[in-house]
Amino acid sequence: MKNIAVIGVGYVGLVTGTCLADLGHRVVCLDVNEERITNLNKGILPIYEPGLEEVVRRNVNAGRLLFTTHYPDAVNGTSPDLAAEYVFIAVGTPSAVDGKADLDYVRRAAESIAEVMDHPIIVVNKSTVPVGTGDWTADIIKSKQTRPIKFNVVSNPEFLREGNAIYDFMYPDRIVLGSLEREAAEKVAQLYLPVRATIMITDLRTAEMIKYASNAFLATKISFINEIANICEALGADVKEVATGMGYDKRIGRAFLDAGIGYGGSCFPKDVLALAHMAKERGRHPQLIQAVMDINADRRRQTVDKLRELLGGALQDKKIGILGLAFKPNTDDMRDAPALEVIELIEAEGGRVQAYDPVAMQVARQIKPNLELTVNPYECGAGCDAVVLMTEWNEFKQLDLRRLKNLMKSPVIIDARNVYEPEQVADMGFSYRGIGRGYNYR
Ligand code: NAD
Ligand code: UGA
Repeated sequence: MKNIAVIGVGYVGLVTGTCLADLGHRVVCLDVNEERITNLNKGILPIYEPGLEEVVRRNVNAGRLLFTTHYPDAVNGTSPDLAAEYVFIAVGTPSAVDGKADLDYVRRAAESIAEVMDHPIIVVNKSTVPVGTGDWTADIIKSKQTRPIKFNVVSNPEFLREGNAIYDFMYPDRIVLGSLEREAAEKVAQLYLPVRATIMITDLRTAEMIKYASNAFLATKISFINEIANICEALGADVKEVATGMGYDKRIGRAFLDAGIGYGGSCFPKDVLALAHMAKERGRHPQLIQAVMDINADRRRQTVDKLRELLGGALQDKKIGILGLAFKPNTDDMRDAPALEVIELIEAEGGRVQAYDPVAMQVARQIKPNLELTVNPYECGAGCDAVVLMTEWNEFKQLDLRRLKNLMKSPVIIDARNVYEPEQVADMGFSYRGIGRGYNYR
């Protein structure tokens, strides 16, 4: 059992802290957001993540998982035997205005650690940070220490997906550790031994780059299949079948070849942009990455084009039902959710929107207080000229479409996630557009 502090209790910090506690370590999670910590101490989680609440409760009850706002308690422990050997940084790294990753939260976390640390520690960076941030973090800690105390910085990028976070932590495809001192990385590797995953140890900058390159590659797969979807629409082929056919080739793989509304969320948009920014800063021209972003931005506009096409022109005074607000199923995260942009495009053309999401409505209310929300998917379609399916929640896959049709003003569905079978929906009397499903043109 090791003593661990986790700085930042968002998606990554809470999942990491909780899962490390579940592996048997003693973990103190710290956040500067007092309300977040007060709620966590009452058992109220800041995010919706399937299964997480139970694992948090189990580890809190076992005394292995604690929450605080007090840096000295987290880093040095309330007694010397509880001092943290490892301090994970898991604070946010959002996009700054120019697309660069904003490192302000990382800087402040590093300063706070340096100011209080009274014993040697390994600082483990889990936040997604531009290449070179590990060295920069070490410089900050050195400059803010009240007296010189040994420490190491290890980069340990996180690859979990929201909605699958616990599984991804417990069964990772790989664990990447980067450090200038191999011994420090090996110590961090010991924490993960119970998960029995492949562990790769490399240098700091390479570890940081592996994270960006991985996210950018997955985003590239998505933009690639979306481009193929556009071509399928023009030529009468079905992109779902194309992706399946491609996916049988082990060199290609079926994962991340779902054409749709494009990628959103708190990660791909900001990380792809930050990688492009890093390249440009060093005088490189990231052509492919730029195309990936351009194709993704077009997805939202193309969805609204499809609406106009099926509604016979302008969206002025048309009522549109939006099914799904979260950027993907099994999360209530709406950061960079495609639904928000589509709603804004519809409203900009004078259309009216009502929306429904199985779990993200509370978050939606905070982000967009004037958005009309409905109590279920049928109410969402009631009186509408068209419905747009934005998130592939299971609940939407099982909808009684005949019931929905009877409630709608006109039976029009834009299926931005290719959830339905075009022929079946058309047979029910809907005007239907999926993404890249060539049936439209037969
Ligand atoms: P988040 O915004 O959900 O949480 C960040 C937390 O850090 C917040 O609770 C905030 O109050 C806290 N914080 C900010 N400054 C602090 C400070 N100085 N001291 C202590 N706490 C502080 O962020 P997230 O989604 O968990 O992402 C964190 C990092 O992990 C980002 O770099 C992100 O790119 C990366 N990442 C995220 C995911 C994901 O699925 N969300 C997956 C892999 C990697
Ligand atoms: C993504 C990565 O999958 C994680 O490995 C990574 O750790 C994380 O970003 C991060 O760096 O923070 P996440 O954003 O939670 O995880 O969700 P994904 O499942 O990757 O989906 C991202 C977006 O791509 C969603 O909007 C999703 O709808 C879209 N997507 C995904 C597609 O449009 N098509 C696909 O085939 C797959």
